[in-house]
Amino acid sequence: MDHTSRYRIKIGVVLCVFFICWCVMIHNVKWYDLSSPITAFRHQGNTVEIVDTNTTHPAATESENSTTGDDKTKVDDEIDWIKDTTQLQALEEELEPVLEKFKPKPEEKKRKHNKTTNEKGSEQMEEKRKQKSHDRRVNETTIEKVAEQLGRQRTERRRHRSTKRSCSGRYIYVHDLPAKFNDDILDDCRSFNKWQNMCPSLDNNGLGPVLGNSQRVLSRSGWYSTNQFLLEVIFRNRMKQYECLTNDSSTASAIYVPYFAGLDVSRYLFDHNTSSRDAISLDLAEWLRKRPEWEINSGKNHFLVIGRITWDFRRDTDDDDAWGSKLMSLPEFKNMTILTIEKSPWHNNDFGIPYPTYFHPGNDLQIIDWQNKMKRQRRRALFSFAGAPRPGVEDSIREKIIEQCVASIPKCRLLRCSYYNLKCYQPIDVMRLFQNSVFCLQPPGDSYTRRSTFDSILAGCIPVFFTPGSAYIQYIWHLPRDFHKYSVLIDEEDVHHKNVSIEHVLSQIPATKVAEMRDEVIRLIPQVVYADPKSKLEKFKDAFDLSVDGVLERMDRLNKSESSFDFDEKSSWKYLLFGSVGKHDWDHYFRYSRNQKVKKSETEDN
Ligand SMILES: *[C@@H]1O[C@H](CO)[C@@H](O)[C@H](O)[C@H]1NC(C)=O
Ligand SMILES: *[C@@H]1O[C@H](CO)[C@@H](O)[C@H](O)[C@H]1NC(C)=O
Ligand SMILES: *[C@@H]1O[C@H](CO)[C@@H](O)[C@H](O)[C@H]1NC(C)=O
Ligand SMILES: *[C@@H]1O[C@H](CO)[C@@H](O)[C@H](O)[C@H]1NC(C)=O
Ligand SMILES: *[C@@H]1O[C@H](CO)[C@@H](O)[C@H](O)[C@H]1NC(C)=O
Ligand SMILES: *[C@@H]1O[C@H](CO)[C@@H](O)[C@H](O)[C@H]1NC(C)=O
Ligand SMILES: *[C@@H]1O[C@H](CO)[C@@H](O)[C@H](O)[C@H]1NC(C)=O
Ligand SMILES: *[C@@H]1O[C@H](CO)[C@@H](O)[C@H](O)[C@H]1NC(C)=O
Ligand SMILES: *[C@@H]1O[C@H](CO)[C@@H](O)[C@H](O)[C@H]1NC(C)=O
Repeated sequence: MDHTSRYRIKIGVVLCVFFICWCVMIHNVKWYDLSSPITAFRHQGNTVEIVDTNTTHPAATESENSTTGDDKTKVDDEIDWIKDTTQLQALEEELEPVLEKFKPKPEEKKRKHNKTTNEKGSEQMEEKRKQKSHDRRVNETTIEKVAEQLGRQRTERRRHRSTKRSCSGRYIYVHDLPAKFNDDILDDCRSFNKWQNMCPSLDNNGLGPVLGNSQRVLSRSGWYSTNQFLLEVIFRNRMKQYECLTNDSSTASAIYVPYFAGLDVSRYLFDHNTSSRDAISLDLAEWLRKRPEWEINSGKNHFLVIGRITWDFRRDTDDDDAWGSKLMSLPEFKNMTILTIEKSPWHNNDFGIPYPTYFHPGNDLQIIDWQNKMKRQRRRALFSFAGAPRPGVEDSIREKIIEQCVASIPKCRLLRCSYYNLKCYQPIDVMRLFQNSVFCLQPPGDSYTRRSTFDSILAGCIPVFFTPGSAYIQYIWHLPRDFHKYSVLIDEEDVHHKNVSIEHVLSQIPATKVAEMRDEVIRLIPQVVYADPKSKLEKFKDAFDLSVDGVLERMDRLNKSESSFDFDEKSSWKYLLFGSVGKHDWDHYFRYSRNQKVKKSETEDN
């Protein structure tokens, strides 16, 4: 959005605020059911007081007539929205010049706030004077109080800014790679996907084409038709805005390698020999090893972001029929930290970070707005599932889940994905389904994780997992370790062999617990979205910020000691999550043989 239109919207909002305040003042505010004539907009312990009066004004009846029916609900919504304090803060700058005009003169202020004995004596006269200028006085007090409040907020914010985290220990050096490792790969976008032209997905810094809000399922701005495999492009563009970049690699705590490994290999996954799949990775390994930065600690301070699952890079033979590239088996990459949308439970140098969703907020307001919308959302279905069966995957529970969902209609809603059902790929249809559901089933597909998990969190729909591999061991930097707070785990074995009824399990959860979980899910929204690389969030940390924090913390630990490489790598899922490698209830989920059900089929659902 350009500056003028944003300004115009803000001005509109300011006018709206005044209109509502005004209505509140004139009207005794039925919507608030006030017990005292003072209504308070709460703000972090402080209050903005809006003095209510009995005064009627010639225009009052008119305004009464204009706020009935649909308009009234609109105003209610609007008030709900304004109550949110951050929005008040954002309005502050625009309000300031307006308020300045209405501020009482200094002596007037003194009279009101510090009554001398003298003034107390002439209070009766004063009272009359007040009566006469009642309207004006009311306005002045109101506005003055609002102004005072905003002033306090402004000071607080300035203080907050000045105590902003310093960059010490957070510097990142970005390798200036030859174009063949990133930009040239983008030029080849036609070959990323055999079945679909992915070039439009590169628009808007990798966010994809802008999504309209024609059906009012989404919100006004910040929505894009984002491809689930474009994380590496989005991440690189976000990194350009990182506040602690340095050109001096010796002061950097971490070194970012902006190689588009996922898009590179996606060109050769099908019908290509292993040497094509590995060529650029091998070149990069050699390039990195020759750099002076490598010598600091053999690449241990380097990190890479990959927008595909780890299994696309863990080929361990040179057999052309084997899947993927061998990037992660190369010694150079083994020394590096790799962020990917799905990590391996049995390796210690890759870390799960969220799939990109369709929402890329440009500011804090867009997030708050969306969270409020999701809080108010009516959810008619108990649970839902969007996805396809996996007839090719041994032991897949998807078939069972679809059967159970069909049996539970209308409590369950199903969006069946197939090569022919394009609805499943329409962001609006998927988001509408999830917004209307209390729980969203997230069974593993070809691999443990799904983008759908993040779509459901975004929609305030509580995710239901069937293995801890789908999220709990993956996104340790982004999701709370106490998974009961925001999700449900139903053992896939129980669904498979004991015929456990999903509907039964979910309907047994008490309503208060459900509400708590949903609040937590909605609270998580900012942490799992990637903000628009063009802008910067003030209050929230997004998925990018948390990923960078995670990397820096890991680099710190690696620098302090080598010990994090000491344990048996096969237990790394346990070590990274719990800090120990003893026996655990979840061991049966991660028997090593489970590996290698890896190929993403053509009917990839999101
Ligand atoms: C409002 O009206 C009530 C009774 O109608 C009266 O007692 C009260 O003093 C009035 N308040 C103001 C501020 O005029
Ligand atoms: C408001 O509506 C009432 C009836 O609902 C009507 O009598 C009155 O004249 C209207 N006032 C104005 C200012 O339109
Ligand atoms: C308010 O009045 C008291 C005496 O009544 C005086 O001591 C105090 O300094 C005054 N405060 C201001 C801000 O003028
Ligand atoms: C004071 O409030 C009245 C309504 O109560 C409004 O019509 C008027 O414009 C306001 N005056 C100022 C200076 O804001
Ligand atoms: C690093 O150097 C490049 C050009 O040499 C310059 O454009 C860029 O602003 C520098 N970045 C920082 C963080 O100093
Ligand atoms: C690693 O730790 C040493 C002290 O143990 C410190 O001097 C050095 O700056 C650290 N390096 C990085 C990259 O943080
Ligand atoms: C792999 O394929 C490329 C082109 O597709 C070809 O040039 C190359 O010779 C092949 N390599 C091997 C080892 O077959
Ligand atoms: C990886 O790190 C180890 C030290 O932990 C070092 O011995 C090895 O040479 C490094 N590998 C490469 C390719 O630099
Ligand atoms: C599973 O349970 C459902 C009812 O919950 C029942 O209709 C179905 O026959 C059962 N299937 C098996 C294989 O036991």
